[in-house]
Amino acid sequence: MPEKIESILQKYSRGQDELIPILQGVQKEFGYISLESVKKISRYLRITENQIYGVSSFYAQFRFTSPGRHLIKACRGTACHVRGAQRILEEVKKQLGITEGETTPDLEYSLETVACIGCCALAPCIMINEEVHGRLSDKGVANIFSKKGTEGESDDTN
Ligand code: FES
Repeated sequence: MPEKIESILQKYSRGQDELIPILQGVQKEFGYISLESVKKISRYLRITENQIYGVSSFYAQFRFTSPGRHLIKACRGTACHVRGAQRILEEVKKQLGITEGETTPDLEYSLETVACIGCCALAPCIMINEEVHGRLSDKGVANIFSKKGTEGESDDTN
């Protein structure tokens, strides 16, 4: 990993205005920005780690913890909202014991909310990795996570 960070940094000049592109590049490569990466970026740009965290806190896109094996995207778009997206999100949180932006302690699941996952006709829906689970109910959510570790193999669209 250290060599990869170095190769990413070498693509950018040492100007502080390169911070956001560097953070984006690191996250694209590793899926998140590790403490080690922050330290290296700090040295490279000659700014403090606190400055990095301070600037990046304005951008919801940056993740500083390792993502889970399964990424859950809970839709909060209009079509899903009017069909109970908030209730579905609450059930996901209850099942996993985490909230938006968090990862379960076993690193199995990360949860985030999105504006639309492009399956409005199936509202309310969530996506686990690349699989859409639509027309969900509280019970449907519970069923998905009662099979934890099976990577969301159930089909809740029927
Ligand atoms: S609004 Fe939820 S999929 Fe489009």
